[in-house]
Amino acid sequence: MPEFKGNIRSKLPKAGTTIFSIMSGLANEVGAINLSQGFPGFPVSEKLISLYHDALRAGHNQYAPMPGIFTLRECIAEKMEDLYSCVYDPEAEITITAGGTQALYTAISALIHEGDEVIVLEPSYDSYVPAIQLAGGIPVHIPLQPPNYFIPWEEIKKLITQKTRMIIINTPQNPTGTTLTAKDMLQLEKITDGTDIIILSDEVYEHIIFDGNEHQSVARYPKLASRSMIVFSFGKTFHATGWKVGYCLGPAHLMKEFRKVHQFTVFSVNTALQHALTAYMLNKENYMGLGEFYQEKRDYFQKLMKGSKFKILPCLGSYFQLLDYSSISTEKDTEYAIRLTKEIGVASIPVSVFYSVPHDYHLLRFCFAKENDQLEKAAERLLSI
Ligand SMILES: Cc1ncc(COP(=O)(O)O)c(C=O)c1O
Repeated sequence: MPEFKGNIRSKLPKAGTTIFSIMSGLANEVGAINLSQGFPGFPVSEKLISLYHDALRAGHNQYAPMPGIFTLRECIAEKMEDLYSCVYDPEAEITITAGGTQALYTAISALIHEGDEVIVLEPSYDSYVPAIQLAGGIPVHIPLQPPNYFIPWEEIKKLITQKTRMIIINTPQNPTGTTLTAKDMLQLEKITDGTDIIILSDEVYEHIIFDGNEHQSVARYPKLASRSMIVFSFGKTFHATGWKVGYCLGPAHLMKEFRKVHQFTVFSVNTALQHALTAYMLNKENYMGLGEFYQEKRDYFQKLMKGSKFKILPCLGSYFQLLDYSSISTEKDTEYAIRLTKEIGVASIPVSVFYSVPHDYHLLRFCFAKENDQLEKAAERLLSI
């Protein structure tokens, strides 16, 4: 292709290939066990696959309504009322999206204007900051520290200005595996009270929560819910990250703005899949057992790793386990993750990349959403260090 000589000004000059693609690519190249990228190593339920086939054969192959098929939105509204006692109007307050990332991007694009400040707690999922920058917003980073990543609400309160338009929260959290508590939610309610701040609550791991704790959705707190856009992902819940279907909930006046952007970026989402998901969601067991399933995985991985030189950090939710390698090496986490992949054959993600300004605490993130034989092989290799 002849090179275009025009003057192109990058909108994201610092963005490169994501670390997830890099580490997965390296894992494939050297034949390492891939515990880096956060995708489940389990098959999608046969039932859900056959429901999808049925929907395709039934002719659900043309555009769905822009906000999603109504029956799926109704199912979601029912679930929200059931689990969090919050009533959402499926007509005006629920939109089906092409995965969680699109919902996050659309919410930020629709609600953030040039110069608006957005508070981002770090380490954080890597799509938040670029989406803020593309909207002309200014990310205000709050770096949190291991092992518990407590949120300094009083400090955050001091950083709120006239320009603060949004706070992004994520519970259960990627990459740390921490969860927000009822106390956190009350603090959040307190610091946003009387402001115009919108909360963007990333709850894609809502069902992956352990030790008998309850997911603290912002939807449980009426004052918070009234100023929140909440993002969920079917990919995480049904072991189908490649399907890229999720949804966003929010009060009608915010959702109206969200849909204005959604209709011109995605318009509507895979129709047959929406029909299949509606039928599958009718059986609550299809999502309510997920916490127990992953708790067993977490416990098994932690048990396998006992006696290793890695220090195991608390993991209260999500399918990520942080391991501290500071008693093994003083290398930078980015370098150590690469060496571990090449020499030991286990791929992980260095946690410093989840900060805008790298904070290196010698921590690696391992995804334990894998079959036991994969976890066993990985642990055996890690224990050889
Ligand atoms: C915290 C968080 N939010 C959102 C997403 C994106 O979800 P989806 O795959 O549905 O776009 C992910 C995926 O890894 C995530 O970890």
